[in-house]
Amino acid sequence: MGRAERVVLAYSGGVDTSVCIPYLKHEWGVKEVITLAADLGQGDELEPIREKALKSGAEKSLIADATAEFVKDYAFPAIQANALYENRYPLSTALARPLIAKLLVEAAAEYGADAVAHGCTGKGNDQVRFDVSIAALNPSLKVLAPAREWGMSREETIAYGERYGIPSPVKKSSPYSIDRNLLGRSIEAGPLEDPWTEPLEEIYALTQAIANTPNEPEYVEISFDRGIPVTLNGTALDPVTLITQLNEVVGRHGVGRIDMVENRLVGIKSREIYEAPALLVLIQAHRDLESLTLTADVTHYKRGIEETYSQLVYNGLWYSPLKAALDAFVQQTQERVSGIVRVKLFKGTATIVGRKSTNSLYSPDLATYGAEDQFDHKAAEGFIYVWGLPTRVWSEKLRG
Ligand code: ARG
Repeated sequence: MGRAERVVLAYSGGVDTSVCIPYLKHEWGVKEVITLAADLGQGDELEPIREKALKSGAEKSLIADATAEFVKDYAFPAIQANALYENRYPLSTALARPLIAKLLVEAAAEYGADAVAHGCTGKGNDQVRFDVSIAALNPSLKVLAPAREWGMSREETIAYGERYGIPSPVKKSSPYSIDRNLLGRSIEAGPLEDPWTEPLEEIYALTQAIANTPNEPEYVEISFDRGIPVTLNGTALDPVTLITQLNEVVGRHGVGRIDMVENRLVGIKSREIYEAPALLVLIQAHRDLESLTLTADVTHYKRGIEETYSQLVYNGLWYSPLKAALDAFVQQTQERVSGIVRVKLFKGTATIVGRKSTNSLYSPDLATYGAEDQFDHKAAEGFIYVWGLPTRVWSEKLRG
């Protein structure tokens, strides 16, 4: 008896996921492997990947076009939540995992598979995100993770693959481990494992080096409808086009790079480089629009929600009851977050230089220091008396 009869395997076309195919069949007795490659806007040609799966021994090779769903149902809610893990990482990789898990579970149902599989190792966050998301969506489905158990080195993995007709990587394989989708790129390993080593310029693909950015600033106006970005410079765009165009403009000015040491869920600190030009600017602009349209108490309370939300997404709990409850909170707050934000891009910086909204709570009559001032200055005195009363009482007591 094998570990499963029919398996749907998350497939990228890389060596590890390709080797998973013969490994599942020959070592773990799986009868049929169906691969599923998700198009999340990573820019790879998918037809060669589809064929590679078949050459590597898959019985069936599926491609799921999920880019629009990825942006609408995963990236946009994260923008509404201003989600930044450890205050920096916009979760560009993490957000893709629950969607891929959902596609696997759906394919398993459609093709009558009794298990799904992925090529994650035992050291990362992604295995957690896949396993927990799959369990949440279909708790009776088995999850197989060959690379977590096979214990082969890189060389051994390649040699194993060659035995089953999987070609070893043509060019000298890159020392980096790179994950890519429409939202950005995550780059780790190789020389980056030393946190003191500056990343080589060659690792970047979505953002320009400052030396190559335009010498003139560029302005981009982003409008939001209930917390969702809907236009760029006045043009209504579908979600995928909006992110694609914004990545281009923002990246051209060298904005959107992050170099950080982060805390993985499995207890390891890892040095990670990210490029997420559009996503980072959208969060910055969205947060700014919230400062104009939300009351102070909602803004302040929401910051705590955002922190928890980001941790849940990072830690693989996208489909969890707490995440659903936080989603409801965030959605409620977004009702009035509509308006336009003006961003200035220049030499690696994105600066918000203007914001406006028909829902603006900013009152010029209250804020002004000019003659139009409507604020009742005398009322401040009584307010301060009451506000400061506990501190006054405390101080008097202290001094006897
Ligand atoms: N550390 C990031 C995360 O957990 C990205 C991991 C992506 N993988 C990679 N090969 N760089 O979301």
